[in-house]
Amino acid sequence: MNTLMKAALCSTLLATAFSGCKKDDDDPMTPTPPAPTPTLYQRLGGTTMVGDPANPGQMIEQGYLGLRSVVDSTIFVIAGDAQLQPYFAVLLAEVGSGDLTGFAALSENLTEFFAVATGSQNYNYDGLNMVDAHNSANARMTGLVTNADFDQFIVDLVAGAAQNNVPTDIVTDIGALVETLRDPIVQQ
Ligand code: HEM
Repeated sequence: MNTLMKAALCSTLLATAFSGCKKDDDDPMTPTPPAPTPTLYQRLGGTTMVGDPANPGQMIEQGYLGLRSVVDSTIFVIAGDAQLQPYFAVLLAEVGSGDLTGFAALSENLTEFFAVATGSQNYNYDGLNMVDAHNSANARMTGLVTNADFDQFIVDLVAGAAQNNVPTDIVTDIGALVETLRDPIVQQ
């Protein structure tokens, strides 16, 4: 075989090989890419708009509403928890005197934090980072959290989720998410 023939044969073979690799959408042998895993935020209802029970006439993302409900219930559980109460002395004194501004701010900050952490695209968290939120940089925080307190916080969070009938698999995944924050929050 002369050089010219060899070159022609090679290019034919190459063309055949590459056309064999061409992606064919109709080819039943082509695997369908797996559906993307829904974020925790989507599993909580995501961006579906629903009426906001706390603000009649206003709409709210279902994912955000689910998180806010759990956050608010958890703050109430913590308020009745003798182990964790002392850390929230500033907040509890305010609420005791009928001032709910700190409660509203904490509810919003915590909910936005969890919204972003669970995959929301439409909310931002602009509060303190987790280290500064849980040491003397935060004048509203009394003391430093121990590992045992952090464990108790998770117990209270699970109780808050149960009050809102959050499905067990979602609670488990929120628990795993919260666990990733132990290191910056436990500072003693
Ligand atoms: C994963 C668990 C936790 C998360 C995601 C979290 C998140 C937050 C956030 C976002 C804030 C608001 C920061 C700001 O105002 O800019 C905050 C404040 C605070 N956190 Fe945590 N926290 C966690 C665990 C704990 C624990 C275990 C304790 C104590 C036992 C605690 C005590 C506090 C206190 C006392 C404040 C100030 C409350 C106020 O504004 O009156 N946190 N936390």
